Amino acid sequence: MNQKGGVGKTTTTVNIAAAFAKAGRPTLLVDLDPQAHATLHLGVDPGTLEQSVYNVLTDASFDPAKAIVQTRDNLALMPAVTDLAGIEVEMATQGALDLQGQRRLEQALEKLGGKYEFVLIDCPPSLGLLTINGLSAAREVVIPMQAHFLALQGVGKLLETVQLVTANINSKLRVTGVVLCMHDTSSHHSREVVADLEGFFEQSRQQDVPWRFARVLKPAIRRNIKLAECPSFGKSIFEYAPDAPGAADYDALGTAMLKDWDSMLAKRVPAKEKGEKPAAAKSAPEKPATEKPVEEKSVAGKPALEKPKVVEKVTAKEPEKTPEKATESAAAKAGGKSPAKPAEKAPAKSGSKAAAGEKTEVIVVSAASMKVGA
Ligand SMILES: Nc1ncnc2c1ncn2[C@@H]1O[C@H](COP(=O)(O)OP(=O)(O)OP(=O)(O)O)[C@@H](O)[C@H]1O
Ligand SMILES: [Mg+2]
Repeated sequence: MNQKGGVGKTTTTVNIAAAFAKAGRPTLLVDLDPQAHATLHLGVDPGTLEQSVYNVLTDASFDPAKAIVQTRDNLALMPAVTDLAGIEVEMATQGALDLQGQRRLEQALEKLGGKYEFVLIDCPPSLGLLTINGLSAAREVVIPMQAHFLALQGVGKLLETVQLVTANINSKLRVTGVVLCMHDTSSHHSREVVADLEGFFEQSRQQDVPWRFARVLKPAIRRNIKLAECPSFGKSIFEYAPDAPGAADYDALGTAMLKDWDSMLAKRVPAKEKGEKPAAAKSAPEKPATEKPVEEKSVAGKPALEKPKVVEKVTAKEPEKTPEKATESAAAKAGGKSPAKPAEKAPAKSGSKAAAGEKTEVIVVSAASMKVGA
């Protein structure tokens, strides 16, 4: 999630989705950007589509499966079309700019019933209804950004937006971390920015905020021209230039994300064997492995990362689904919702393999202030 444009959101969403698919994990990429860049990146021409995420968002009764294109093994796409640019006007005409309109994507993903293990959402560089739909549907937000001082300035605003969503629409949303894109490890400035960011996250560990377990995800994605070239061929980096540094970086990042995910699921197995509900789905989130704590620094004498303001609750909170219901199969979910318990307030990572008919992980990789990635 990052309101800043051109930071690597789409590149990260597409190539992490491709990395997950390559690892044999059923993945759905939802393109929520009217630019349809993720759609094009996966080789689908938005001009030829009869159905897309536009139908899903504008028609609550639309079957979302009809808008999905299976682009490759394990990699499905809910494509975008340029008409999405007018969606706010369309939804306003329908009188659907309320909570119901903000949750259309969430409801559509529920209808898909755990068919995909991961759902990655690519959001546009704006903070409107599309992005809110992404955040409402997601469990995790991944923030692609470049390690520049000015990029840091927007992160506080972005976190505020996530906090607003957790307070009002989706209490289970959490910030997984930042992916550094087009990264230059040799630059002193970028090292300072990264240290600033890590220091900020470390200071948030004891706070009840959606980014309390956030971290700078590793590895950073190096600047690599092959990553800029592959969208024009409609290919992921693994198809276009499998030996390029960009492929190595996204492969390593995708593998690290899957490892975190699998190790969390493994910890739940004893509870499941005992016939209990998954523990992590009911309690506070697992703390991800964090990097060594770093001291807070500021970049070149400038103020450190702008701290997000405390976000007030601004709308009436709808009854929450239980964490189990939030991700289980459509058949199981059709039953409905129950008020959130206080213990559920912290956003929790939960889910398991779709093949096992269990949970789906929904990640906003690139909400322009994530959803995961992700
Ligand atoms: N690691 C990289 N090395 C080189 N070029 C990159 C890298 N990552 C992204 N790019 C290029 O930078 C440009 C912006 O990337 P991308 O489209 O992923 O950003 P975005 O945040 O999705 O943009 P928008 O806000 O418009 O949606 C694209 O041309 C992309 O190919
Ligand atoms: Mg994009």
